[in-house]
Formats: sequence, structure tokens, C-alpha cells
Amino acid sequence: MSSGNLLTDNPELYEARFPDTDRLAGRWAADCLRRYGSGPRVLDIGCGTGRDAAYLHGTGRSVVGADLSEAMLTYARTHHPGPAYVPADLRGFRFPERSFDAVVCLDSALLYCHTNDDLDGFLASCRRSLAPGGLLVAEMRNGAFFLGRTELLDAPAVSGFTWQGTTYTATTTLTVDRAAQLLRRTRVWTAEGMAPHEQRSAWRLLLPQELRYVLAAHGFEVLALYDGPGPRTEPAWQEGDAPGARLDADRLHLIARLTPTA
Ligand SMILES: C[S@@+](CC[C@H](N)C(=O)[O-])C[C@H]1O[C@@H](n2cnc3c(N)ncnc32)[C@H](O)[C@@H]1O
Repeated sequence: MSSGNLLTDNPELYEARFPDTDRLAGRWAADCLRRYGSGPRVLDIGCGTGRDAAYLHGTGRSVVGADLSEAMLTYARTHHPGPAYVPADLRGFRFPERSFDAVVCLDSALLYCHTNDDLDGFLASCRRSLAPGGLLVAEMRNGAFFLGRTELLDAPAVSGFTWQGTTYTATTTLTVDRAAQLLRRTRVWTAEGMAPHEQRSAWRLLLPQELRYVLAAHGFEVLALYDGPGPRTEPAWQEGDAPGARLDADRLHLIARLTPTA
């Protein structure tokens, strides 16, 4: 069985598996930036295939997309041109001080900060890179969803998609590592003509109150923290929808501002 990450290593498969033809995530991020009065310079950290970065670029912003995966960056430069695409690790990155008005971090990329040191590294890097009053806009899983709920943990989930005539099937098992506060995922991909491909990944199970605490410790004021509507909620966010007030469902949407004196 081979390993690695089938989707991150093959960005065209990533987009086939998670199509966002209406650019909902990009539109939501653009709306947040407008709503909270962000300046034009944006860093999309964990930018993946670059489609959200390119959407923001298309709204007239000056955008840098950054990711750890060279395959993603190469794909982004070809398929979603406009932004500058650079390698960076979100757990500790360095751009010129105060060079961005907003940092955007979508689809749970922030939850690759597995440890408190990782989180500190991410927020210290955001703080260094942002102008005073700059925004952090993030969208991710909500760790609190798993308190008292096992519906995503009870049995392996089978899903699939077809790309260029080949059907890829994923069997996904999620477990909670309580000591590490991680949601661990084992996924086995099968497809005709391909050896079974196993990949393991994990997301921090970040709780709303600890997120508020660590943001405050790094000089950020939380402007909004809510479970929906957002680009990956049901029903999905639409233009005109305001941030919600609840924190119960399985997504977390964060808008925070670096306090001007931080
Ligand atoms: C689920 S994808 C989200 C991509 C994109 N933000 C989106 O919403 O489509 C997560 C991305 O985070 C990147 N990533 C994972 N760990 C990272 C790290 N430590 N630093 C930077 N990027 C990372 C992966 O390469 C992948 O492109």
C-alpha cells in the first residue's frame, strides 16, 4: 500500500474531490474582508490549489498564496494565476513586518497547528506580518462539535468521486485522541489500476474558548466567532448573510483584529 496524501500530492484530484465552482469560499472570505474594512494586501496561508487566493486577487486585492506543498504551489501558479505563490509553513512563517492587511486561512488549514507551540508560532507569525489593525479570517472544523457527539466517529465513512473516467473510493475512519486533543483520520483510497493508498492526517480539536484565549494572548480581538453560515455549512452562506451567533455545529468561522497597539 502506498502512502502520502493523494489529494495534496495531486491538486487536480483535490479540486475534483472538493469542487467549488461558484467560488463560495473565496466569496465568503472577500465578504468578510469588505465587511470588516480590510486593506488590500492579503496573505492566504495554506492556500492549497490557489483558487481562493485567485478569487481575492480578482476582487482587486494584492494577494500572496503560501503553502507547504510544492505540488499545490506549482498547480496554483498554472491554474489560478494572479497571486504570488510562495512556500511557507503556517506554524512559523516570515514575511516583511506589517506587509499584510489580512491573513486568510481556510478549510481547517489552521488546525494543522497540532500543538500549543504550533499555534503560538502561527499567531506570532500573523502578528509580525500584519499591519496594526490587520485582520485574521479563518474557517475550520469546530472542536466543540465533538463534545457529546459521536456521529462522525461511530463507523468508517465511504465516499467517492470520478475524475477522467476513474472512480476513486475513500474509506475514512476518524478517532479522537483526547490526550493530544487531535481528531485523527485514516483514509484508504482505492481505484481501478491503483494500489490501495493509505493516508493519515490529524486536526487540532480547538475549542472556542481556548481559541479566544490564545488570540487574546497574541494581541488579537475577536470580532466574530460562530458556526455558520459559512462556505462549508448546510445551508451554505450567501451574499447578504450576516455572521451567526451560535457555536454548536461542526464549522468555526473566525474574524479577529490585531489590536492597533499590539
Ligand atoms: C484542506 S487544504 C485547504 C486548502 C485551501 N485553503 C482551500 O480552502 O481549498 C489544506 C492545505 O494546507 C496545506 N498545509 C498543511 N500543512 C501546512 C503547513 N504546516 N503549512 C502550510 N500549509 C500547510 C496543505 O498542503 C493543503 O494545501
